[in-house]
Amino acid sequence: MNSHDSDNFPAPRPVRDSQSDMAEIVLPNDANPLGALLGGRLMHWIDLAGALAAHRHSRHYVVTASIDHLDFLFPVRVGDLVILRSSVNRVFHTSMEVGVKVWVENYIADEAHHVSSAYLTFVAVDKNGKHVAVPAVIPETEDEQRRYQDAGRRREIRHAELERRRRHLVRGT
Ligand SMILES: CC(C)(COP(=O)(O)OP(=O)(O)OC[C@H]1O[C@@H](n2cnc3c(N)ncnc32)[C@H](O)[C@@H]1OP(=O)(O)O)[C@@H](O)C(=O)NCCC(=O)NCCS
Repeated sequence: MNSHDSDNFPAPRPVRDSQSDMAEIVLPNDANPLGALLGGRLMHWIDLAGALAAHRHSRHYVVTASIDHLDFLFPVRVGDLVILRSSVNRVFHTSMEVGVKVWVENYIADEAHHVSSAYLTFVAVDKNGKHVAVPAVIPETEDEQRRYQDAGRRREIRHAELERRRRHLVRGT
């Protein structure tokens, strides 16, 4: 496990410093034969958008440890503009939970829909792949404080599930 020298360890940073926006236009190569965005492509963008916030906050390399449950609430079409907004919800030690919210904008119809949300956990690593501690995050707004509290509950669920899956793997069931 990693430790840090508290004298040199970076000070906590506000959530807003990690907030990142990414925009993608859906092109034919991103879509299935019916002209709808491939779920896997959106997952890729969510991963990248999440990593942006994790990099900005930790100022380290990061690897994706997990992505929680993902719903696709509306089909997204070729030509739509996809906006992904991410920020760090909470830092634990070497890991941090990042929330990504996805909207789609159809600029012809002048419509915008929330199409997906996801919680990802990233682990900060150095250039040798060794885990490194991440500075704490400061939730300032009410929404940020709510997400911070919820992230603690989600971590407990995530760890319980991980433990359960590991037991099944060991038993081969
Ligand atoms: C994710 C990974 C770094 C965890 O390393 P590990 O040695 O198994 O895990 P540890 O038990 O030491 O835990 C390290 C941290 O990761 C967290 N973690 C580990 N597995 C996790 C999971 N499945 N979901 C969420 N968090 C997880 C732990 O809670 C811990 O966080 P903390 O330091 O904030 O308390 C390691 O499994 C790995 O490198 N996986 C491959 C990552 C990858 O290739 N991603 C896709 C490409 S980027």
